[in-house]
Amino acid sequence: MNWRLFTVIFLATFGLSFSALASLGDFHLLGNHQDYQPQQPIAYSHALHAGQLGIACEYCHSGAGESRHASVPSLSTCMNCHEQVKGSTATGQAEIQKIARMHAANEPVRWVRVHNLPDFVYFNHSAHVNKKVACQTCHGNVQDMAVVKQFSDLSMGWCVNCHRTQNAQDPKLNAPLDCDACHR
Ligand code: HEC
Ligand code: HEC
Ligand code: HEC
Ligand code: HEC
Ligand code: HEC
Repeated sequence: MNWRLFTVIFLATFGLSFSALASLGDFHLLGNHQDYQPQQPIAYSHALHAGQLGIACEYCHSGAGESRHASVPSLSTCMNCHEQVKGSTATGQAEIQKIARMHAANEPVRWVRVHNLPDFVYFNHSAHVNKKVACQTCHGNVQDMAVVKQFSDLSMGWCVNCHRTQNAQDPKLNAPLDCDACHR
């Protein structure tokens, strides 16, 4: 048995006290917060790029259909356009210059992570995306967000309820309900 599953069983033993705590209010394990909307080091807007300009999510998050993680793109993806596109407003130009400077210096951007499941949970993007679950079902209308905000609560109930509903709606699906599918 691996240590993560062990941790979960250990926690399950104290499950009652956890649920009791959870019901007290906005209790979440390891700082997972619905509506969390941190400021980012660069004023990158999904509303502009994915909304107005209509750039496909997969252009930047190519991992989503192929692997466990959707991943955040490197600045070289941004520079595909921003070698040419310098911006039309003073603030936009300043932000784009910041990107060009960091890219030239090979300096990674320290984006603040918005979604963050605890380590003992296994989640795989491709398994969902390839069954045609839209990004927006889980992440909300990101194409309207100037700053990304956590839309779903990412609780165990959220995962399990959707699995139940999906299996009931489509008998070809077999979204798992057993503990070790999500806690391995
Ligand atoms: C031009 C590139 C680009 C496109 C297109 C794009 N994104 Fe993003 N996305 C980013 C970058 C950069 C970040 C990290 C900065 C931030 O959170 O705004 C990010 C962050 C995110 C996050 C939060 C990640 C976290 O830290 O938890 C989600 C969710 C997301 N994108 C979903 C989408 C969806 C859904 C679409 C399509 C509607 C999309 N993105 C289109 C570049 C892009
Ligand atoms: C079934 C729900 C679901 C769907 C569908 C989904 N995501 Fe996610 N996404 C999550 C969860 C849960 C996390 C947190 C994962 C973690 O912390 O390990 C996440 C995290 C992310 C992140 C942060 C980086 C990472 O990979 O952990 C990005 C970016 C992202 N999603 C983009 C997308 C895009 C783009 C799509 C559509 C192509 C999409 N997601 C579809 C649930 C979903
Ligand atoms: C497919 C082309 C394309 C890609 C890829 C792209 N952008 Fe943009 N971006 C644009 C266009 C077009 C504008 C609008 C410029 C203007 O206002 O003249 C823009 C504007 C911006 C602005 C200025 C916003 C403002 O307020 O004026 C920032 C900052 C920015 N992009 C950051 C990024 C980052 C960070 C990435 C990579 C994650 C990225 N862009 C990827 C095309 C792109
Ligand atoms: C919007 C509905 C929805 C939500 C929310 C959702 N899932 Fe799923 N999940 C599915 C569907 C649909 C499948 C595919 C079933 C199939 O392949 O037959 C699936 C499959 C899976 C699988 C089996 C495939 C694999 O990767 O091994 C795991 C594990 C899983 N989900 C974990 C999670 C976790 C963890 C969460 C919450 C953080 C979650 N899911 C949230 C709909 C959802
Ligand atoms: C579809 C995915 C999924 C399945 C199936 C699942 N879990 Fe979870 N579980 C999660 C997620 C996601 C979390 C993290 C919740 C959070 O961060 O708030 C979690 C958290 C937990 C926790 C920590 C306390 C808590 O309530 O947040 C325990 C204990 C737990 N699970 C036990 C179990 C047991 C026992 C089973 C089998 C009866 C099970 N899980 C089945 C996704 C799942």
